[in-house]
Amino acid sequence: MSRIAYVNGRYLPHRAAAVHIEDRGYQFSDGVYEVIAVQQGALVDEGLHLRRLERSLRELRIAEPMAEGSLKTVMREVIRRNRVRDGIIYVQMTRGVAPRDHAFPKNPTTQVVMTARRGKPPSPETVAAGVRVITIPDLRWTRCDIKSVSLLPNVLGKQQAREAGAYEAWQVDRDGNVTEGTSTNAWIVTEAGEVVTRQASEAILNGVTRLAVIKVIEEHQLRLVERPFSVAEAKRAREAFMTSTTAFVLPVVRIDEDAVADGKPGPLTRRLRELYIEHVDAEGRQG
Ligand code: PDD
Repeated sequence: MSRIAYVNGRYLPHRAAAVHIEDRGYQFSDGVYEVIAVQQGALVDEGLHLRRLERSLRELRIAEPMAEGSLKTVMREVIRRNRVRDGIIYVQMTRGVAPRDHAFPKNPTTQVVMTARRGKPPSPETVAAGVRVITIPDLRWTRCDIKSVSLLPNVLGKQQAREAGAYEAWQVDRDGNVTEGTSTNAWIVTEAGEVVTRQASEAILNGVTRLAVIKVIEEHQLRLVERPFSVAEAKRAREAFMTSTTAFVLPVVRIDEDAVADGKPGPLTRRLRELYIEHVDAEGRQG
């Protein structure tokens, strides 16, 4: 089946889809994006993703290219044309096309690209075994709350993880606290049974999966604490895991060279994963 991409109002064969060489996204990373899970043909937590997208645009003063209703219609059309039942949709918006100059162009037209592809979250074997993360210095700017396409530190961090045979790299701030992964949020479970994740701030991306898991935790009267945690605390933790649109809730069993507890996925992590999957299934049924 040939894939279809949406580019500024047109549905094009994926291999023929292209943007202008003076697209500011290409030249300055002057744009934002969202990755939304598609489950049983429905968009998971669509409202939260759209709100975050709007916020990212507003923070960067990029004009919204279309009304929310139209955006939803196009996203569904991209999913339909690519026959995606379970997978993801990628939505990117950049400030426009203009002769290269750092300052904003006068009357830019926001450029919109969307692609969709089939795909499954990590395999049952990966989930059952858990994954390893390495820790690296957080080299990013001070507005990590904006989902910008400017991802160089994240790219370098993920590559470093791959080369170390790890799944993800947890980025660490100057105080020795974990901010987040390169494309995931970071969590631990303490000896006291508290589920800990860093509070939303300009230091992290406020993950939609993070928010959904927080809701699940509250609904099930589990104990949530939003605060920073250090690498040393994570290594001593009872459990650790990461969350994202593509990883769902994924157990972390090793941090650098140290096993987390007995080196196996923890029970609370497994429970949160099951509860999160119930939430995703429910979104799919509603879709
Ligand atoms: N990444 N932190 C960062 C830096 C991210 O890039 C992401 C998402 C997350 C998790 O957010 P969410 O739960 O909304 O997916 C946290 C996406 C999946 C990506 O870049 O592919």
